[in-house]
Amino acid sequence: MADIETIASKIKAGQINRVVVLAGAGISTAAGVPDFRTPETGLYAKLAPLCLPYPEAIFHINYFGHTPEPFYALARARNPVNLKPTVSHAFLALLAKKNLLHFLFTQNIDGLELDAGVPGDKMMAVHGNWKSQRCHKCKTPYPDDLMQQAVNSGDVPYCLVAECGGAVKPDVVFFGESVAPRFEEEEPKVREADLMLIMGTSLKVNPCTRLPPQVPDGVPRVLLNMDTVGGIGGRASDVSILGACDDGVRQLADAFGWRDELESLWAGAVAAKPTGAEVDTMALLDESIEKLAKKMEGSRQVPEGHRRMLEAHLGSKSTNMECVVRFRQLRSLSGPNGPITTS
Ligand code: OAD
Repeated sequence: MADIETIASKIKAGQINRVVVLAGAGISTAAGVPDFRTPETGLYAKLAPLCLPYPEAIFHINYFGHTPEPFYALARARNPVNLKPTVSHAFLALLAKKNLLHFLFTQNIDGLELDAGVPGDKMMAVHGNWKSQRCHKCKTPYPDDLMQQAVNSGDVPYCLVAECGGAVKPDVVFFGESVAPRFEEEEPKVREADLMLIMGTSLKVNPCTRLPPQVPDGVPRVLLNMDTVGGIGGRASDVSILGACDDGVRQLADAFGWRDELESLWAGAVAAKPTGAEVDTMALLDESIEKLAKKMEGSRQVPEGHRRMLEAHLGSKSTNMECVVRFRQLRSLSGPNGPITTS
């Protein structure tokens, strides 16, 4: 495998000019948002008490269409207005400032890359961002101030078009929806890269998962992640910097001779981001999940759409059998819909 020094000497010699970055939730965990798939601390593990049909359902457009309550119960804790950029975000902005950032694909919806100073034309938030919202049915835009009220209260906002009444959804791409066509337009940039950085992603979600294999052979791919993912490390030119990506970018900045510039850019970005009252987003998330779980447990109604999706996913590896048992009990208390079975 190659190493940081090899990359540093190429940077210093001006042999690297087109850096393509693929980022995921791991670059924002230090800002106070859990990632999705880390066992125990990731959002999907934390959601277990909610007995969702399967964890990703909370972000599936079909589930949201009939049961938007869980999404909104957690919205305040995941609302990016309360978040500040991390040093990893600042590193991306520094790459842009040095004219080395060819393109950034981020799967994150928090907009922290823009807050850190990455120019909008140098990046795509592949899963959209949380800066606007509209009715998920008729697509009528919904005002920011009303959305902020809904996020703060945890109440589902509904379309202002009276005859529609669909739930309002932030302009983020849910499972079951397509990413914007711009993705395919920008995708060839990966093949033009002379360095790719892959940061804080499990590489489990399409379409971003297909980007790293397109980097030409011999072009270094540097993984900054807690663990090895997606076969990165399998090529002689790959470099793995395992651990927190904030530590990883500092190692790179030291090797490139950029450390002071990085720290001062980061401090500036943090100071420039106005946030509301300080919120402990991690604690708020745990509280919100507990509150909603109690509410759902106390309810004798299983929403129809929830029941259908749960049944459709029985037998998959994410089936939570405790939840199935609980719904069976509820069914026998309340119901005509027949038993949920695992066969
Ligand atoms: P995941 O949660 O799947 O993966 C995050 C990765 O970052 C894992 O490999 C962690 O080990 C690593 N990680 C966590 N904290 C880190 C840190 N401080 N430093 C370095 N690495 C760290 O998140 P994504 O890959 O971003 O989509 O998930 C992709 C998509 O799945 C998300 O955009 C979201 C989700 O469901 C939708 O909701 C549509």
